[in-house]
Amino acid sequence: MNILVTGGAGYIGSHTCVALLEAGHQVTVIDNLCNSNADVLTRVQALTGRSLRFVHGDIRSRDDLARAFAGGIGAVIHFAALKAVGESCAQPLAYFDNNISGTIMLMQAMQAAGVERLVFSSSATVYGQPDHVPVKEDAPLRVTNPYGRTKLVMEDLIRDWCASRPELSAVLLRYFNPVGAHPSGQIGEDPRGIPNNLMPYIAQVASGQRERLHVFGNDYPTPDGTGIRDYLHVMDLADAHVKALDYATTHTGCEAFNLGTGQGHSVLELVRAFEHASGRKIPCTITQRRPGDVAEIWANPARAMQVLGWAAQYDLAAMCADTWRWQRDNPTGYA
Ligand code: NAD
Ligand code: WQD
Repeated sequence: MNILVTGGAGYIGSHTCVALLEAGHQVTVIDNLCNSNADVLTRVQALTGRSLRFVHGDIRSRDDLARAFAGGIGAVIHFAALKAVGESCAQPLAYFDNNISGTIMLMQAMQAAGVERLVFSSSATVYGQPDHVPVKEDAPLRVTNPYGRTKLVMEDLIRDWCASRPELSAVLLRYFNPVGAHPSGQIGEDPRGIPNNLMPYIAQVASGQRERLHVFGNDYPTPDGTGIRDYLHVMDLADAHVKALDYATTHTGCEAFNLGTGQGHSVLELVRAFEHASGRKIPCTITQRRPGDVAEIWANPARAMQVLGWAAQYDLAAMCADTWRWQRDNPTGYA
């Protein structure tokens, strides 16, 4: 099948392109490169020995979407979005426009092209502060920032669109904390500026680009006082998209799935695992809690196992080893 991957030059999209090409699919990527570099697609093709079609364009442009759909598309995997929580609080309208308007334009283009299957990048952010952990898909949805709001709205819009015609199929994938890189060290996460997320920040401390990690609070009600998250290897995530696509091809309707390992790890556990993987010391300073952070959240991923036949395979040691290989071999990312 020819799969249109929006945001395919990004971190998760690029790893998913590798998995799709290795599974025998054809791939068309549309990306405006607002948070990525086209060089990644050269590396994806070199890694897989297969070529893909790249449309340098914006999902909010009807013309760009028409170019992307022109090749004959069987299904869409929709990654393209802005994703920085802090930035979304400062510029909510940019997030509403890019993420929500972009998704509406994409669904219109799908309808015009007669494409009936969609896999969507949602996020554990839709659960906000959960009442219980591990979190199941039927937990209350309550977002705490404009980025999260866009994910919740996009989920609702896709669900409503799906309900409008019986032949439509959508899979909403709620990722917990994606980390890691392709084991080759050829592709990985390349954040612009100071990383917002823990793993890329630690990796830059290990490589000497940043002096020390600021641990955002050690007074949470957790065993070591630091925040607990469900870190998930991006290779497992890529594999989940191939399985979700298979599911969307054989089922109709709209379904949501948690994607996580089902295990929580604290900030300090991640620091220790990274020190072990890299052989480097990660100097840490405890600072104030980061506003909006929850103490602990991890997934109950049972539904993805039961329905999609997917379960995470990589452990924390592999997540750190693969992140380190990418960081060590590409200290300036794709630049
Ligand atoms: P990323 O920024 O690396 O990738 C997103 C890609 O989309 C980028 O290449 C960017 O240039 C492109 N893009 C953005 N707006 C576009 C537009 N209007 N038109 C065309 N291209 C556009 O981010 P990622 O980490 O790979 O995340 C992919 C998806 O997964 C996003 O939807 C994100 O919200 C979601 N997600 C990410 C995480 C995470 O921690 N990385 C967690 C949960 C959900
Ligand atoms: C993890 C832990 C921090 C940085 C975010 C988004 C979420 C989703 C995934 C897209 C927390 C601590 C972090 C640092 C630290 N993205 N930390 N020092 O906040 O769980 O989730 O990314 O959908 O929506 O909110 O991930 O990696 O930022 O933080 O101590 O410099 O690391 O307090 O406990 P988070 P994170």
